[in-house]
Amino acid sequence: MSTLLAVEGLCLDAMREASASPTSILRDVSFSLREGETIGVLGASGSGKTSLALSLLALLPPGIMARGRITFEGHEMLTATRGARRTLRGRRLSMVFQEPLSALNPRQRVGAQVAEVAQAHGERNAVRARRAAVEMLGRVGLADADRLAQRFPHELAGGERQRVLLAAALLLDPALLVADEPTSALDVTVQAQVLQLLRAQQRERGMALLLVSHDLGVIATTCERTVVLYDGRLVEDAPTRQLLRSPEHAHSRALVDAIRPAERAE
Ligand SMILES: Nc1ncnc2c1ncn2[C@@H]1O[C@H](COP(=O)(O)OP(=O)(O)OP(=O)(O)O)[C@@H](O)[C@H]1O
Ligand SMILES: [Mg+2]
Repeated sequence: MSTLLAVEGLCLDAMREASASPTSILRDVSFSLREGETIGVLGASGSGKTSLALSLLALLPPGIMARGRITFEGHEMLTATRGARRTLRGRRLSMVFQEPLSALNPRQRVGAQVAEVAQAHGERNAVRARRAAVEMLGRVGLADADRLAQRFPHELAGGERQRVLLAAALLLDPALLVADEPTSALDVTVQAQVLQLLRAQQRERGMALLLVSHDLGVIATTCERTVVLYDGRLVEDAPTRQLLRSPEHAHSRALVDAIRPAERAE
């Protein structure tokens, strides 16, 4: 399988006031991902996971300076034109954000929000866009998708909202899905259902998945490989099984020790 995504020497710096020196968020991060591969990005709160995920889609907020290279399907993401990035996003790579409620428009029905993804990428026929949205809502396991599509985000349960985001992200069959803590806000049962769905969709589509989590248990059930971030540095890059058996970095060891013995034995 060929390389889908390559991150080389990525550094992110937050520029505060012009006079102050920048704060480092990521330092010299390098890793790559093959087509169809599943990779977990593990790290404590503040280690830079979300910043890394956003930079892959060139969605960093203003004030954050990026250096290094991110190459996705041969496109240099950090220097691509806005138009080129927009075309890639949604169609070739998409993201499920950490906070489902803030990722959805509170004043728009969820079906219309999913349909908008198709329309933003060239589907001119509103009826067809809507039909594709409802079908996808059904495929991510939402019962009675036609009726649910009529509801507003606040009228859905957390797990349902997360599925809506997943439906929007999967609609155009991307080659890479970046999922930032997609299940952290959910209770354990719903978390297991959403992860199972993510795995099933990933396998069915042969899509690559980059799953961000602070929870090694979540990553262990889903990802072949894991990279560990610690204070903005990538301190370990290993097959997940190997990481569980013999973590090399002291910080990885602490994360492995923190999960339940049953998960460690998997
Ligand atoms: N827009 C920003 N401007 C300045 N600093 C930022 C900005 N966004 C993030 N940071 C800083 O970068 C560091 C990494 O933040 P990030 O959100 O990537 O961490 P995280 O690993 O996703 O944490 P969590 O697990 O809590 O979601 C933090 O110290 C944070 O304060
Ligand atoms: Mg985060």
